[in-house]
Amino acid sequence: MDGNGRWAKERGRPRLFGHRAGTENVRRVIERFGDYGVKFLTLFAFSTENWDRPRYEVRGLMSLLSRFLKRETKHLHENGIRLLHLGDLSPLSPRLQQEVRDAIELTRDNRRMTLSIAFNYGGRAEIVEAVRRIVDEGVPASEIDEQTISSRLLTEGLPDPDLIIRTAGEMRLSNFLLWQGAYAEFCFTPVYWPDFDIKHVDEALLAFSLRTRRFGGLPLHEVDGPAGNGHENGRNPAERSAASNGFRA
Ligand code: FPP
Repeated sequence: MDGNGRWAKERGRPRLFGHRAGTENVRRVIERFGDYGVKFLTLFAFSTENWDRPRYEVRGLMSLLSRFLKRETKHLHENGIRLLHLGDLSPLSPRLQQEVRDAIELTRDNRRMTLSIAFNYGGRAEIVEAVRRIVDEGVPASEIDEQTISSRLLTEGLPDPDLIIRTAGEMRLSNFLLWQGAYAEFCFTPVYWPDFDIKHVDEALLAFSLRTRRFGGLPLHEVDGPAGNGHENGRNPAERSAASNGFRA
C-alpha cells in the first residue's frame, strides 16, 4: 500500500491524510479481486520497520486499522470473507488487539475469500520465529525440510502468493513474505496506493495472466531432450507446483 505519503504531499496535506485516503479504496479493491475469484488476498498495511516513523504517524495508522475494522468487518462478513492477521499483535493496544481478534472470530467460517492483513509484519522476524520453534521442539537437523519451515510460518495453511503487486514505483520486497514469495510474480505500478482502484486490479491481473511461470523448470514445448528430468529421487515441490500449471520442471 505504498504512496500514501506522496499522494498527500502532492496535495499539500499531511501524510495521515494520504493514509486515510488509502483506506477508502480498500473495499472496492477487495471486491474486484473477489469478482475474479481470487481466494486469498493479503494487504501489507504496517511493517515491523514502520515503528521508526514519527509517533503521530504510527498512532494514526493504529487508529486507521481500528476504523477499518469497525467500518468493514460486518461488510466483509456479509460477503463471505474471512479475515486473518499476519504479524505480532502484542505491541498494539489491548483494545486494538481485541478488535482484531473479534473480527477474526466473527469471520472465521467464511470461505469465499481470505483477506490477510499484514500489520506489524516482518518476513525475517517470521522466519526467525519459525526457526526458534523448530529448535524448541527438538526437531533433528536431518528431518528439517521446506515443509518443516513453511508449517511454522504465520501463513501456515495459506497458499504461497502467485502475484505480489507493489504500488508507487517501489521495486523492492521490503521484508514482505520473503519465504512465501519465492516463486511469486511481481507487478510494479507507479500508481500511488490511494489511486489504486478497480482498473488497476484489472491491469495487474491481465499482466499476470500473460506471464509464463516456469518455477525454475521449462514449459513442455521448450523441452528439447528426452522426457524425464534431472531429479533422481522424484519430484520436488517446485516441480509439483509446475506440473499442476502444465509445465515440466
Ligand atoms: C505506505 O505508504 C503505507 C503505509 C505504511 C500504511 C498503510 C496503512 C493504511 C492505509 C492504514 C491501515 C489500512 C488497512 C486496510 C488495515 P507510505 O507512507 O510509505 O507512502 P510514501 O511511500 O509515499 O511515503
